[in-house]
Formats: sequence, C-alpha cells, structure tokens
Amino acid sequence: MRRLSILSVRPGAVLAHPVYDGRGRLVLRAGSELSGHQLERLQALGIRTLWIVDPRAEGIEPIEPVNPLTESRILHVLHAMFSQGPDGPDFTSLLHALREAAGDLASQIGALQSPRVPLAVYPPALPELPVHSLNVAVVALACARTGGRMWDRSRDLALGALLHDLGRAPALARGEPAYHPVVGWQAIKDDVLISALTKVIVLQHHERLDGSGYPAGLRGQDLHPLAQIVGLADAYVASLEGRDGSKPRPPHEILEEIMGSGGFEFDYDVVDDFYRAVAPYPPGAMVLLSSGRKGLVRGIDRLPGRPPLRLLAEDDEKSPQWEDIELLSPGHQTEVIVSVLPE
Ligand SMILES: [Fe+2]
Ligand SMILES: [Fe+2]
Repeated sequence: MRRLSILSVRPGAVLAHPVYDGRGRLVLRAGSELSGHQLERLQALGIRTLWIVDPRAEGIEPIEPVNPLTESRILHVLHAMFSQGPDGPDFTSLLHALREAAGDLASQIGALQSPRVPLAVYPPALPELPVHSLNVAVVALACARTGGRMWDRSRDLALGALLHDLGRAPALARGEPAYHPVVGWQAIKDDVLISALTKVIVLQHHERLDGSGYPAGLRGQDLHPLAQIVGLADAYVASLEGRDGSKPRPPHEILEEIMGSGGFEFDYDVVDDFYRAVAPYPPGAMVLLSSGRKGLVRGIDRLPGRPPLRLLAEDDEKSPQWEDIELLSPGHQTEVIVSVLPE
C-alpha cells in the first residue's frame, strides 16, 4: 500500500486503510473500491491523502508515525481553531483538546521503532496550515527524540509546534505577517494549563541563533533549544510545501541548505539531530532518478538521501515488473534521486 494525495487517486483504486472524519467516525472501510463520487465526497470532508492498495508496493512496509485517529483528531481541532481564531467562542476548549492530543502525538513518536521519522502527512502537497502544523510537530519530536533533548517535555514541545503559526491569519489580516509569533503567544499567554515552554516555542520559532530572525532578533543563549528545533522543523516543512508562492522543493536540496545553516541560523547539534532524525523519502514514495527511471522507496537506510529503491520496469499496474536495488551498490552509485513524483 501507498499513501497518495487524494488528487492523484483515480476512481477504481482500493482503500488500504479505513478513512475517519475529524470526530473519529468511520467514513469508509479498508477494501472499499473508490468511485469518482466518493472521491469528491472525501475531498469535501477535508480528507487530503488516502492509503491505496498498489501491487507494485508489495512487501514494502510503510511507516506511519501518527495513529490515524490521532491524526484526524489533531487536524480537525487545528482546523476549527485556525478558522475561528483566538477570539472564537470555542477557542479555550479547542486549545485544551489539542493539549490532550499533543500528549498522544508525543508518545506515538517516542514509541516508533524506526530510527528515522517521515512526515505525518506525505506528500505535503497542499500547504494548508493544519497539515503544516502537524508535520512540523512530527519533525520537531523526531529531532528531540534522536538528540535525547528534554524528552520529558515532549508534550510541551508537541503543543508548541502544533500552535506555532496560531497567530498567522490574524497577523496577516493586520498586514503584519512578521508579527505572527507575538499574536500567537498573546492568544495563549494567560492560559494556566499551557506551559511556559509551549508559549516560548510559539514566540521564538522564527528567531535564529545568529540574530537574523524575528520578531526580537534574539541570539545564542536567549533562544530556547526546543524553539530552535521547531524553527528548523518549520523551515524544512515549509520548503517541502513551497510557501508564499515559491515552488515545492525536493528534499535533498533542502537538506543541503539546512546542513549549511549549522552554526549560523541553527545550532550545530540541532542540525545534526535533524539530519539523523528525518526520513525525507518515506517507504512507498515514488521518486524520479537522474537516469530518468522511476522507483518506489523500499525502506529507510543510514543515508537519508539514498534509500533502498524498487526500480519500476514499466508503468503497468496490472502486471508490474521491478528490480530491487541499493543506490550505494555497484552499477547504481552514480544515480541520485532528483524529485518526488505525485503518483
Ligand atoms: Fe511561523
Ligand atoms: Fe510554520
């Protein structure tokens, strides 16, 4: 099975996983063959990706960092929070519901067997704020887990990451987008159930080690290490999505850029944890190689940019043919992944 953007799923495809709505209610069972009408209905319900049966992915074990019920719950709560804003009537109850879910999210990432963690929602093709926020939280938790950084505060980290862009829409509406960390912080600063650490993460997620960030231009020791982790996770996820009119970029380019920011924008150790924690090409992703051939990622290996691959011989889903290769082995070591394909 493979996870695809709903825009890439064709009628006739078979669901490999059940689909739930934001309240945890079953919408469609695993094994259902999807009609065009059902696909439209799922899109209208806010479903953005689907797990689909694909014979070419036989034997490839996907990694699901977040339980589907937790995922749909978090996306539902974030959607409600962001659409009604900090002044909305249900803001406080939504905030507290998200705090509970952040604890579940942190324990799920902590319990994951895989040493590297892919995004929660992949591909991140549609840069919607709830999906962005969940992906940032998963990457930040993965970094903290790998680096063994303050894991006892992982719930506060998860909640800070989920809330990091809470002030984005109101700040944009005021014509002051760079002020959004302050607007988000103001919305939660008086809530006694939300930890000081979560509040600091929201306020500092765009500050940078060398003082080049905003809103305060803090530097060095003045930045909380977990706020730096969220800042780095945010930079990575935003570049993958393509933000503010820029095109989505391939993971290897972004990884190189982030490696180069060590010691300047981000602490070396944080960059090192990130490099060891992320799985930029999750099992099941379809990639294009420099040779022009297409392949499916088979698993996760020690080098993030060179995962084991299944080279697809031809684009025929009925009688698929393939060859399983290692990108590091003789005959293949000059081939590199150049992009992730939508299907
Ligand atoms: Fe932000
Ligand atoms: Fe963000």
